[in-house]
Amino acid sequence: MLTVKDLDVGNKAVLVRVDFNVPLDKQGNITDDSRIVASLPTINYLISKNAKVILVSHLGRPKGKTAEYTLAPCSKRLSELLGKKVLFATDTIGPEVEELVRTMQPGDVLLLENVRFYPAEEKPELDPAFAKSLAKLADLYVNDAFGTAHRAHSSTATVAQYFTGKKAAGFLLQKEIDFLGSLLKNPERPFFAIIGGAKVSTKIGVLKALASKVDVLMIGGAMAYTFLKAQGIQVGSSLVEDSMLETAREILALNKNIYLPEDSVTEDGKTFIGNIPDTCKGMDIGPKTAEKWISALQNAKTVLWNGPVGVFENPNFAKGTHALAKAISELSCTTIIGGGDTVAAVEPFADKFTHVSTGGGATLEFIEFGSLPGIEALST
Ligand code: 3PG
Repeated sequence: MLTVKDLDVGNKAVLVRVDFNVPLDKQGNITDDSRIVASLPTINYLISKNAKVILVSHLGRPKGKTAEYTLAPCSKRLSELLGKKVLFATDTIGPEVEELVRTMQPGDVLLLENVRFYPAEEKPELDPAFAKSLAKLADLYVNDAFGTAHRAHSSTATVAQYFTGKKAAGFLLQKEIDFLGSLLKNPERPFFAIIGGAKVSTKIGVLKALASKVDVLMIGGAMAYTFLKAQGIQVGSSLVEDSMLETAREILALNKNIYLPEDSVTEDGKTFIGNIPDTCKGMDIGPKTAEKWISALQNAKTVLWNGPVGVFENPNFAKGTHALAKAISELSCTTIIGGGDTVAAVEPFADKFTHVSTGGGATLEFIEFGSLPGIEALST
């Protein structure tokens, strides 16, 4: 796989797939621009080499073209961050966009409108001509959208077939692959992973992959109650996926160092060690669990964390996640946060981690499969 530095980009139109899928408030203001900031090294490099930079991204999961999902706020923010004008196309493909591209000067930056306004983005088979129309805009293709590299979509995968020998990974994609790749190939041990979140069913693949790779696996969040129930512990009215009990037992059999919560804070603010009474619902790991996990983590040489260990959005159930975040941020070993919700959950400690991935789902699938469709498309 080539990287952007291997391409001769001067005076060329370069289509760059970025992930500007950023959170917005009700007024359409960007509440966290880290994904845009993370794309700057590639964009600035291309500008410095006099490329014509054509950015393509999705935002959210729109059903058709709606003002709510326009990328216009990202264009504005990018312009502020770059300190230069960013052109904005109100469409993604078509004659008007082609005309805009034709008038671009070396060093210009153009952001195309939300690529998911076209259903063929997520379902390339609906209209193979869509990827071809995107490809028509540029001489070269760069994928820098690690956060979306687990999607085999028109702009992340299909389009790459039109750029044989003229496609490369951007700096962000390369950095993420390097970090996660070396973590999986040759982690410094003991290697600890903390996996949280609501459902076992959405994380079976990554749980199985990690259980076989790590020295210690800590399972928190609501999904822990499925594991506890699978072990015969009473979990009251906590969230449980009964269809996953057997899967949970299989995962538990893969590694003898799987830690589950020994105590829980329940919705009514009580703390229970072991069994939870019928009427109570577990919402966070308890103080005994946090203390035990933090003490064990002092031996870690590598820590990977994905998914909060409690319902952290409610301050009453954020103590476990925050205690772990603080303790891990103070470790001197390699600490990696696997994107998405986890980054918000570990604020204000996130910048003290060695690597904060821009991918949530992408990180999990990379761990499970060792590669992603967006990466594969650059290699063929
Ligand atoms: C993400 O936020 O995880 C990526 O941007 C991918 O978005 P998606 O889950 O809507 O495909």
